[in-house]
Amino acid sequence: MPEASCDIGLIGLAVMGQNLVLNMNDHGFKVAVFNRTVSKVDDFIADEAKGTAVVGAHSVAELAALLKRPRRIMLMVKAGASVDETIATLLPYLEAGDIVIDGGNSLFTDSTRRARDLAGKGILFVGTGVSGGEEGARRGPSIMPGGNPAAWPHVKEIFQSIAAKVDDGTPCCDWVGEDGAGHYVKMVHNGIEYGDMQLICEAYDLLHRGLGLGADELHAVFTDWNKGELDSYLIEISSHIFASKDEDGTPLVDKILDTAGQKGTGKWTVISALDLGQPVTLIGESVFSRCLSALKDERVAASGVLKGPAEKTFSGDRTAFIESVRRALYCSKIISYAQGYMLLRATAKENGWNLNMGGIALMWRGGCIIRSRFLSKIKDAFETDPKLTNLLLDGFFSGVLNQYQEAWRQAVVSAIELGIPTPAFSTALAFYDGYRAGRLPANLLQAQRDYFGAHTYERVDKPRGEFFHTNWTGHGGRVSSTTYNV
Ligand code: ATR
Repeated sequence: MPEASCDIGLIGLAVMGQNLVLNMNDHGFKVAVFNRTVSKVDDFIADEAKGTAVVGAHSVAELAALLKRPRRIMLMVKAGASVDETIATLLPYLEAGDIVIDGGNSLFTDSTRRARDLAGKGILFVGTGVSGGEEGARRGPSIMPGGNPAAWPHVKEIFQSIAAKVDDGTPCCDWVGEDGAGHYVKMVHNGIEYGDMQLICEAYDLLHRGLGLGADELHAVFTDWNKGELDSYLIEISSHIFASKDEDGTPLVDKILDTAGQKGTGKWTVISALDLGQPVTLIGESVFSRCLSALKDERVAASGVLKGPAEKTFSGDRTAFIESVRRALYCSKIISYAQGYMLLRATAKENGWNLNMGGIALMWRGGCIIRSRFLSKIKDAFETDPKLTNLLLDGFFSGVLNQYQEAWRQAVVSAIELGIPTPAFSTALAFYDGYRAGRLPANLLQAQRDYFGAHTYERVDKPRGEFFHTNWTGHGGRVSSTTYNV
């Protein structure tokens, strides 16, 4: 019988799993590892983990026996049925109070189901988002754990030790909330990542096609932007990309085919937004922009048929144009995060989760793809007012928007005039104008619904909740339809 001396067990020695194990080992935790294809355990111990304290197990029984009580077992296996299968193989060797952590890319609804099923068996389940890719896993990822709150005290030390740290040493890991909240927040993180990337691409398009900036000039602009309000990992890597040359010495970015791929997390964020009736328009446009980009052959054919404006390049003040694009990017980014937070708020309400709003921004400040200086401002906003309805109403964010909105409009106007698509900039501005509109044209919409479907309407001069129906044509019936609200 092996000695129960290991702090944590990890199952699944693919890239993320291996790097997390090495990261845990670096931080003084003794890790036992297992993998379905057992030869990978021996390979890992003999190769990547050589000279470390990592212990290899050749069966789940052996793994369970190696662990201190309560056992902590992290799964880094393929998302989906593999997680359920692995949990099923583990269960006979677990005792009440043991903790099972799923660190893969599971869908949040699966994590909610697992948390509830396992709670019934006395096992504490944690579903955690782990972001930052291979490098993050090795040197410090952003870790977003949710699930059974009773598990948190048992995993907190390990997770916060291995997580990325921001300048003041704060770990990019905190308890997110109940059930599948950890995986939900990771999904929204990925959706926001789609939005951030799309916004940067639109800025690039405006500066490249609209202003005629080449890769070297773009490198200079983005390097400059990264020193200010837009300071972020994605702006930084974009500036490096513009500086990268192909073998023939020309900019590599110009050689890359303009069709975007996607793995689905952006889409899932938008589906959840639609389910919850939340206007997460910017991530929606970002997903659709990738879809449009994928229609390369159709676009090439259409480019010879459909006309754009005669003027295709900007002829005004170039410095002012660059600044207006920067401001449009910053304002749109604020809108995107505000929308993401609206979604988090709605899902928390729907599921009865106590989501740690400020803590979520903190977890995203380092380690992950959307890390940026800006996230500290979101944390500050929720620290100032934990019940903040909308980020746009926080003094800092409303101040930026009020100051920059004219330039943002200018950038969108120029884009429209030049025929350069900026769906994310534009939808963000439309949302901004919609959100700040005391009255929207939905009065007409309600009239139309009542006209053709007797759906009824409320009146501005009557209390809310009182519904009216008009016989618009004079020959309709007097029966009104039951209302349904989206
Ligand atoms: P990759 O990340 O390399 O694409 P993957 O197919 O997603 O690989 O699998 C990641 C990990 O999940 C691997 O450790 C894999 O185990 P194997 O090395 O034996 O393939 C593990 N995994 C996948 N399906 C599994 C299952 N049904 N049960 C247990 N582990 C599984």
